[in-house]
Amino acid sequence: MTKISFSINLVILSGLLFVSCKSKLPETTEKNKTGEVAEKAMLVSARREASKIGVDIMKKGGNAFDAMVATEMALAVSYPFAGNLGGGGFMVYRTADGNTGSLDYREKAPLAASKNMYLDENGEVIEGKSTLGAMASGVPGTIAGIFKVHEKFGSLPIQEIVQPVIELAEKGVIVTQKQQERLQKYRDVLLQVNQDMTLYTKAYKKGDTIKNIALAHTLKRIVANGRSEFYAGETGKKMLEFLKQRGGILTEEDLLKYEAKWRDPIRIPYKEYQIISMPPPSSGGIVLGQILKMIEPYPLAGYQPNSAKYIQVLTEAERRAYADRSFYLGDSDFYDVPQDSLLADAYLSDRMSDFSFEQATPSSTITHGTISGYESNETTHYSIVDAMGNAVSVTTTLNGAYGSKLYIPELGFFMNNEMNDFSLKPGVPNMFGLVGAEANAIEPEKRMLSSMTPTIIEKNGKLWMVVGSPGGSTIITSVLQTFLNVAEFDLSMQESVSAKRFHHQWLPDEIMMEPEGFAKETIQELQQKGYKINQKESRIIGKVDAIKVLPNGNLEGGADPRGDDTAIGF
Ligand code: DON
Repeated sequence: MTKISFSINLVILSGLLFVSCKSKLPETTEKNKTGEVAEKAMLVSARREASKIGVDIMKKGGNAFDAMVATEMALAVSYPFAGNLGGGGFMVYRTADGNTGSLDYREKAPLAASKNMYLDENGEVIEGKSTLGAMASGVPGTIAGIFKVHEKFGSLPIQEIVQPVIELAEKGVIVTQKQQERLQKYRDVLLQVNQDMTLYTKAYKKGDTIKNIALAHTLKRIVANGRSEFYAGETGKKMLEFLKQRGGILTEEDLLKYEAKWRDPIRIPYKEYQIISMPPPSSGGIVLGQILKMIEPYPLAGYQPNSAKYIQVLTEAERRAYADRSFYLGDSDFYDVPQDSLLADAYLSDRMSDFSFEQATPSSTITHGTISGYESNETTHYSIVDAMGNAVSVTTTLNGAYGSKLYIPELGFFMNNEMNDFSLKPGVPNMFGLVGAEANAIEPEKRMLSSMTPTIIEKNGKLWMVVGSPGGSTIITSVLQTFLNVAEFDLSMQESVSAKRFHHQWLPDEIMMEPEGFAKETIQELQQKGYKINQKESRIIGKVDAIKVLPNGNLEGGADPRGDDTAIGF
């Protein structure tokens, strides 16, 4: 392929990538009033196979952290759409004795990265360069992440934890209807980026089996040689060679320097709840906290769920919080994120002071405060509570569907396209429509700003909910609504997860709503007040997998019917 035709292809492909972000809505969203209920332990993830492997580990006596390692790897096998070895993620945990923490295994920009690396000579963003192929990848963090978790909290040997995953890769995963549709939708772009047939470009039908023998071998080597197999061993070397041949810039030094990091989670008090969520480099905890503090003074429980008033209050808080996100948030190892100021009560009540129920506040009149895009669901979240009462909330991603689309056949996994989460150029939206500034500009070794919001919530000091979602910019608002549906409207965990969702992110200035779930009168009332409603795109917002501790101590799983998500407990 010539250089020119390749770049034209990239333009077409990145268009596809954007369009492909829309997913079909499930036919029914409220089939089950109550989700799976169990006495001791529960795991909810995007695939039955992964939930089962994780739960079996806990049945054998493993804890939630052992189950995390197993589930993370099982999703790489059964849900390559987002589950990964070539990506990264975040974990928030709460141990049975109430200690909390978070792990950042987010990808990093390569050492050879630079601020304008995705711009052409005219300073314009080069279409596709940050989303497709070898240049789109940050240094993967997932394998460092699972070993960091295991080292601190693991109770079973890594071999015993990963063995069932290796067997799953060898035995194969049965293609579901939704998986068939996803693979079909992405086949052309996968073929174009890989310039070859690969395991995931065959025309699979529901019921077919996909065995990933290459991934089974990779996992065996990782079990035998540990973390360094990926960061300094054969697997890492093969990955680097593969990327280099395709124009990538990751080096041995990038791999050697990668570290997953423990970080102090964000803690937000809201009424009798404590929300424990992800700090930078995710925007999740701060933005969620800002929204919650802005809406706390309003008597939400007195409004109907998804009523005009409820939607207005959330929208106006979201608008203001996302405006701050775009300006102030980035990797706190590189940029001084004013976390305390952004979460200060006085600042946030002042932020909402110009809101009136009479009329929408146009986003053009809102900018970041003065203090001291869109996508579908290509990330994946899982929630775990074990029999001892430890809780783990994990969101992991390749960024786009199948990441950069670049699949390494010899190793059996896709590479991420997380570099697109940086602000490529101030004010230019990324694939989620999010704009950014200096705080999130590219620098070597910096982590790109995320919206992933793995969250654990305490009620009156006790474990109450484990929750999170994929959905790029809509992750934060999906987690918010799932929490409020239970806390304010007393829905069951499953009802809350299934309920229709809406989203506002400052720019574009519109409320995105899932189609068909909102009353016509509500929409008209909002439109009369000046809100632009976007219901045209038939897309889902978030795909939440959550667990709630019921008053009698049982656990209720909420598995999102928008996907193949499954709750399993015992
Ligand atoms: O870290 C982030 O915010 C994004 N890379 C997450 C991507 C995502 O959720 C894709 N699914 N919609």
